[in-house]
Amino acid sequence: MKSLGYQAWLAEEKWHDTERIEALRPLLGQITATINSDRGPGRTAIEELTTAISAFTGIRPELSVRTGPARIVLGSADTASSVADKLKAHPLSEEGYNICSSTEDGHPYAVLYGGGEKGLLYAVFHLLRLLGTSAELADLNVSQSPRNRLRMINQWDNMDGSVERGYSGGSIFYRENRVLLESGRIRDYARLLASVGINAISINNVNVHREETKLITEALLPDVARLADVFGQYGIRLFLSVNYAAPMELGDLSTADPLDEEVQKWWRDKAGEIYRSIPDFGGFLVKADSENRPGPFTYGRDHADGANMLADALAPYGGLVLWRCFVYDCHQDWRDRSTDRARAAYDHFRPLDGRFRDNVILQIKNGPMDFQVREPVSPLFGAMEHTNQMMEFQIAQEYTGQQRDVCFLVPQWKQALDFDTGLKGPGSTVKRIASGELHPYLHSGVTGVSNIGDDENWTGHHLAQANLFGFGRLAWDPDLSAEEIAQEWSRLTFGNEGKVAATVREILLESWRIYESYTAPLGVGWMVQPHYHYAVDVDGYEYSKWGTYHFADRNGIGVDRTISTGTGYTSQYASANRERYESLASCPDELLLFFHHVPYTHVLHSGKTVIQHIYDTHFEGVERVEAWIRRWQELISEVDSERFEQIAERLGWQLNNAKQWRDVINTYFYRKSGIPDAQGRFIY
Ligand code: GCU
Repeated sequence: MKSLGYQAWLAEEKWHDTERIEALRPLLGQITATINSDRGPGRTAIEELTTAISAFTGIRPELSVRTGPARIVLGSADTASSVADKLKAHPLSEEGYNICSSTEDGHPYAVLYGGGEKGLLYAVFHLLRLLGTSAELADLNVSQSPRNRLRMINQWDNMDGSVERGYSGGSIFYRENRVLLESGRIRDYARLLASVGINAISINNVNVHREETKLITEALLPDVARLADVFGQYGIRLFLSVNYAAPMELGDLSTADPLDEEVQKWWRDKAGEIYRSIPDFGGFLVKADSENRPGPFTYGRDHADGANMLADALAPYGGLVLWRCFVYDCHQDWRDRSTDRARAAYDHFRPLDGRFRDNVILQIKNGPMDFQVREPVSPLFGAMEHTNQMMEFQIAQEYTGQQRDVCFLVPQWKQALDFDTGLKGPGSTVKRIASGELHPYLHSGVTGVSNIGDDENWTGHHLAQANLFGFGRLAWDPDLSAEEIAQEWSRLTFGNEGKVAATVREILLESWRIYESYTAPLGVGWMVQPHYHYAVDVDGYEYSKWGTYHFADRNGIGVDRTISTGTGYTSQYASANRERYESLASCPDELLLFFHHVPYTHVLHSGKTVIQHIYDTHFEGVERVEAWIRRWQELISEVDSERFEQIAERLGWQLNNAKQWRDVINTYFYRKSGIPDAQGRFIY
């Protein structure tokens, strides 16, 4: 039996409630399915359903499978099939599904309709969530289809077995430059992803080094094809990150110039070779001209030239190019106050609107900097009417506690998705742009940098699993609330009874604010140890080349990004947001230091001065983590010892981290400002 941590939210434990099992026996005891192919998501749907029913209830359903449109009927075969024929499903997209249930002549039945076999698989996972949370199954009338077309995961895995920004062991995909084909783990991962609606994955780091460059060669393509098949069974399309200079690095050409005909032919031939091995290959993810990776700039070309060349090679096969916009000067001089890294993506890409091919999607990080605990939404999002775009979130907690500290990121992502860009009048929210509702993008969606590794429980901290789950749920339906998602995950993971799920839910929902409270204040970001990005180091990035400064002196702190006196970054937003951020009077407190340089005595909307806010939040953050530890200890007899101890241990680490942040930050600002804490608490 796999551990509870490994099973994650798809727990296979038998129910204790025998009454419930008996009540459901007539429904779960017979399954009639129709699908069209012998392998693939339809077949997987049937297997997932029957396996889960046996695991939960011990019932082994009588199964009959025929050829026909994607559908599963549960309940007495006679009743169910006549009812299923009578019921007309609403029109469905390929990934959509309906579930309805009722009784006829005293016989309960449920029918799952998929728009296609992927839809059927999602319907099964929906039903399993209902079973797992003890929901009522009578009289269901569910109709679902995903809001985002691409719901993707980016692995940052390297072939040596390491994971860039991985906080939960090594890669489940690679070790010692080999693909781990024998591992059942990859299949189990595909299953976790499909269960929350993920439909695409790129399987190697965006920083494509020497070995990973070879993933598109004869030597490794057969292995990639086998991985594509594993994911394909769960309806997930496989993508690869590619090295822009691959034609050179693989020793074939002396240039990677996108306008060079030899280069174009090289990529066309390469695309042909890939699609012969993997007919449903998704396409390429590309980090070019970013953080020292090669790209079109070397040849005096721009990003449209670069992306279009790859897009033309993939177009005959329906492949996509996901082109990242994380492009900025990483060799900046800290003395130069005129260059602002936050401006970079917009400045580089906005002028290229309309020049990208239809099968290019620009992949834009949620904020203009780099996955900080608090950033405004990237102004590039939605600002290119004629260019496909998708949103990139980071599920891995690089700057948000590295899966040692609890930080449930769904509330942060919700805030980004709900942000009103105002670009097409009020209501031009990011989620409507990502889903293609606002601009008729041909391709769009949401992607997330994975937080899993080969730790037994996938994510290091058990509670970090909630981020992976939540990302998928939100990509499917951005209107789900953080509360609903936290509740669903907690109950699926820790059971429906007792106070464990309730406590976990509350901890999750508070955690982002708490993490923020003891780390970098008021949106300023970056006060972390260079390179590692976990522990506090206030000036670690202050005199560096990375464009990440807070400018604290004895009078004040913050980055002036206004049009009137600063870098002009605020000009990249549409008028309402521009004005809101530009003016000190309306800039939200939590982003104050992102947009303005203010004295420590500046009074926030909250009524506190900046310096007092810093002291208060840092003392409070530690107290809140102490309170979590007390609450967790109360659950000692209600959680299995393995998960209990593991979470208790990490909460202890979190407390130490929070104390260190508190003391360093408070001391630093006390020494800079000379202003004492109004409450006279101890500052070193
Ligand atoms: C951050 C992160 C890098 C990563 C980069 C990216 O800078 O620290 O490890 O490669 O983002 O998104 O490409």
